[in-house]
Formats: sequence, C-alpha cells, structure tokens
Amino acid sequence: PVSKFVKIVEVGPRDGLQNEKQVIPAETKIEFINRLSDTGLSVVEATSFVSPKWVPQMGDATKVITSIKKKDNVNYPCLTPNTQGLDAAIKAGVKEVAVFLAASDSFSKKNINCTVEESFERVRPLITKAKEHGILVRGYVSCVVGCPYEGPISPRKVAEVSKKLYDMGCYEISLGDTIGVGTPGTVRELLQTVSQVVPMKAIAVHCHDTYGQALANIHCALEMGVRVVDSSMAGLGGCPYAPGASGNVATEDVVYMLHGMQYSTGVDLGKAIETGNWISERLGKANGSKAARALTLK
Ligand code: HMG
Ligand code: MG
Repeated sequence: PVSKFVKIVEVGPRDGLQNEKQVIPAETKIEFINRLSDTGLSVVEATSFVSPKWVPQMGDATKVITSIKKKDNVNYPCLTPNTQGLDAAIKAGVKEVAVFLAASDSFSKKNINCTVEESFERVRPLITKAKEHGILVRGYVSCVVGCPYEGPISPRKVAEVSKKLYDMGCYEISLGDTIGVGTPGTVRELLQTVSQVVPMKAIAVHCHDTYGQALANIHCALEMGVRVVDSSMAGLGGCPYAPGASGNVATEDVVYMLHGMQYSTGVDLGKAIETGNWISERLGKANGSKAARALTLK
C-alpha cells in the first residue's frame, strides 16, 4: 500500500526569509525555527551558507544554526552553493545540506553565476566532501516548468539534471517550480518524465504559488505517488533572482489539505497557524495562508 504519511519540508526560515528586504534580526529567525520545531515538522530548512554579497539576508547563517534549540527528531538542512559554503556548514555542525541547480542556464547564471554544466562540476566535490563527513545532501532543481528568462522548460531537461544529481548522491530531488507557472497539466507530464529516471519516493515538489496553482499541483503530485512536499509557513518566500516570483505554498494550507485527505503529517495545524501568525506579525505582513486566516477569524 502507498504510504499515507507525507513529509513536509518547511522552507520558511530560508526560502521564506531570503527575499525579505528589511533586516530581520537573527533572534527572530532563531525563535521562528524553534517555534517551527515545536509544531511537529520533521524537517526545517534553517538557512543558507551563500555569499552575503549575493543574499545579505542569509549572512547570519552560522549564528542562526548554532543558536537554535535542536530537537533530535528534526532535521535542519542548510543550503550550500559550493565547498566554501559546505566548509562553513561543517564548522557550524550542520548534519544535512542542500545543493541547488537549475534546469535553465539563464537562471543558473543569475542565481549562482555559472552554467548548469559548470554547476555540476561545482557540486561534485561538495557532495563527495559532505559524504566523507557523514552529511546528507538534498538536491534542488529550479525552473522545472518555466524559467523567468527562457520561458517553458522541457521535462526531459529536468529529468536529465535530476538524474545526474541523484546519481551523484543526493538522496532526494526537490523539483522547484520557482516562478509558480506549473499547472496539474504540466506537473503531471513533468513527474511522468522525471520518475522514469529518479524513483518517485526520492522526489519532492517545491511549489511557489505565483499563479495560485500550488495546491492543485501538490494534489496532482500526491496522486502520482509523491510523498515529500516543500512549503513555507504563512506562504512566505520568493527567490531574489526570479523576478515576480511570489511566496511558496503556505504550510498551513498544505497541512489542512493533507489532513482533509486522511494523510498524516505529524504537524499540529493549530500550532502551525500560531507560528505563521507570529512570524507574519514580526514581519508586519498579512498571513499568506488562507487556512490560517479562516481559522484565526473563527
Ligand atoms: P561568485 O561571485 O561567482 O563567487 O558567486 P566567487 O567564488 O567568485 O566568490 C566571490 C566572493 O563571494 C568571494 O568573496 C567569496 O569568498 C565569497 P570576496 O573574495 O569577494 O570577499 N563567497 C562566499 N561567501 C560565503 N559563503 C559562500 C561563498 N561563496 C563565495 N558559500 C555564489 C557564486 C554561488 C557564491 C553566489 O552566486 C551565491 O551565493 N548565490 C546564492 C544565490 C541564492 O542564495 N539564491 C537563492 C537560493 S536558490 C532558491 O531560492 C531556489 C529554491 O528555493 C528552489 C526553487 O524555488 O526553485 C532552492
Ligand atoms: Mg524556492
């Protein structure tokens, strides 16, 4: 029987906050992560060891990851674009990292300053070194449906990049619809193609909700056998190198839908909503989750 457990990978502290223009104190990030850990989530992506010149908001990565209250049953992966980032992550005691590549050269150049081909040469030594240190590596592929600079991306290209990352040793491949242009039509075709070369159990979906399609796309992915979903509390998020990209799908909305479909997630929806409201208030924003808004008004 297909598993009725869905692993939610909370990306709020990283994808959610990386794009914020205002300075967010490290203390706020730390408390946000601690609160997320208390909701029952098993994965909280905490921060990125990237160049602070490129993404100033993540410049406090070491402080954040070394100051949180780590729970035994929660993983706290961090993004690392190169071995320099990995070295800093190792020094900070990180147990899991994520590399991020793209299925489009134009986006890759804007985001990590190299082509897709070059990015493989960059992450190869990173993955080898991570393994030597017993560190798990997750792999992201961005622009899996469309690229802000190149337009539509072919599922075959995504499958090729995903397979290469998987073969290099990433235990899970997260397919990023960076600009949220996917629909259940394109997502189905994408998953059909990628699952021919990467096992479905190693595939995650990472949906931005720019066009309001994220929940429909996640539903489609679930029907096809995907059991790992990335989301961000209160729907925070966006990539600084993807113009017009809005937030990730809201964790509260994903949990509401999954529980309604009799999937288990381990997440306490009430605590998730409290956490989403808390961070929204800190950022001076309306909560981007519809479920949270509806259940808070009650
Ligand atoms: P570069 O400028 O080509 O790098 O950037 P470089 O190797 O030439 O180094 C330039 C400077 O950066 C040097 O400093 C390095 O020390 C420093 P300087 O000598 O000039 O003082 N540097 C670093 N500092 C700290 N940590 C590091 C690091 N590496 C170099 N790891 C680089 C290349 C990859 C570093 C840069 O482009 C970068 O940091 N990019 C990150 C962009 C990013 O974080 N984007 C958002 C995350 S991806 C995303 O959101 C998509 C996702 O959510 C999925 C989806 O939605 O699709 C995952
Ligand atoms: Mg993203």
